[in-house]
Amino acid sequence: MVQCRICGGPVEEFIDFGRQPVSDSLVTPEAAGSEFFFRLAAGVCTECTMVQLIEEVPREKMFHEDYPYRSAGSVVMREHFEKYSNQLLGSELTGDAPFVVEIGSNDGTMLKTIGRAGVRHLGVDPSAQVAEFAKEQGVRVRTDFFQEASAREIAEADGPADVIFSANTVSHIAYIGSVFRGVDALLGPDGIFVIEDRYLGSIIAQNAFDQIYDEHFYLFSVTSVQAMARRYGFELADVQPLSVHGGSMRYTIARPGRRTVSAAVTEHVEHEREAGLARTETYHRFAEHARDSCRDLVRLLTELREQGRSVVGYGATAKSATVLNHCGIGPDLVPFICDNTPAKHGRLAPGAHIPVRPSEEFSRPYPDYALLLAWNHAEEIMAKEREFRAAGGKWILYVPDVHLV
Ligand code: SAH
Ligand code: TYD
Ligand code: ZN
Repeated sequence: MVQCRICGGPVEEFIDFGRQPVSDSLVTPEAAGSEFFFRLAAGVCTECTMVQLIEEVPREKMFHEDYPYRSAGSVVMREHFEKYSNQLLGSELTGDAPFVVEIGSNDGTMLKTIGRAGVRHLGVDPSAQVAEFAKEQGVRVRTDFFQEASAREIAEADGPADVIFSANTVSHIAYIGSVFRGVDALLGPDGIFVIEDRYLGSIIAQNAFDQIYDEHFYLFSVTSVQAMARRYGFELADVQPLSVHGGSMRYTIARPGRRTVSAAVTEHVEHEREAGLARTETYHRFAEHARDSCRDLVRLLTELREQGRSVVGYGATAKSATVLNHCGIGPDLVPFICDNTPAKHGRLAPGAHIPVRPSEEFSRPYPDYALLLAWNHAEEIMAKEREFRAAGGKWILYVPDVHLV
């Protein structure tokens, strides 16, 4: 049995998606077929409850020069980060020469607001193209992996930090102990380490099985983050549910005793216990539900093809790699996927080899059905593409189960 990457306890495997490619590695047509594959399986630690992958993909295969994901691709995410930046500017960052570090600063969407307010900051991100883009926006970036060694250098040069912020990144880092040791070296005595991530409670409740993919090495809950913070010498002081990405959570971590622990922490831990997040049956049920969704989706797409209906994918997301590859959905069922990320255009979805085209092609002409692979942005996308439904088109969703909108 695999050992928990955090506490060393036994990890019980509950889902196996088989051979999967690197989710954000959209390939050029020439490179198709020579991709790296790994076994995508997840388990739950029966001691600390942390949900984690069984196999780790080497970080250089995921985060490199060509990493295409950009936070700014969603207006909702841009507004979300702008709002929290302003909140930090008015609360944690009012002292003398405050300093903020962001782990996984990507295209600079979060730090842009903080930089414009004249506050000292540093983004840390290993993916060179997105880091360059952030620099062009006036954001200060160190193109590097955040870990103990780089954090010590940052602490030496610029520290201590008042706030270390990280959205949708800490869960991507299997070697998380090194991150916490880095935070320990860099964070001021009263500073806060704020983590935002997809929330396990929402993933289970919505059967959002495609949130399991290579980059999401961990799926966090309040219970598991509290145990993790303690193990590394910190304290989970507050949690706040967020609606983004289909249900997320903001975890505020501090040095023990430095902040009042809010009632929300204990309330969520209790709620998670009631929701069965500490019981392995919950995860086995989830896996069964995931298999049902995959079967129903393939059945629907096959029927539509037999009826001669056109189907297009919407959103060449990383999470869609799990669905497309596990279900064996290729260009025969979904001829192309529309996406607004320039770096994804002209490439093929990894493993499934479905071509990715600019969003403008969605209406030329509208298909009969659109498979919403970016279902976590459903509201934003459906509002933007309202003419599709007005023209008689239907959205296919597979979360929480396969249905048409
Ligand atoms: N924070 C942004 C981007 C999330 S994508 C948002 O929420 O939208 C994850 C980012 O983490 C990528 O840009 C990737 O390059 C970066 N990343 C991966 N491992 C990292 C590490 N060890 N340190 C810092 N950034 C890392
Ligand atoms: P997202 O679901 O945020 O993440 P992940 O890749 O981690 O699963 O990715 C959203 C994708 O959808 C991204 O490639 C951009 C694309 N997108 C559009 O094409 N149009 C839109 O209006 C939005 C919001 C996203
Ligand atoms: Zn554990």
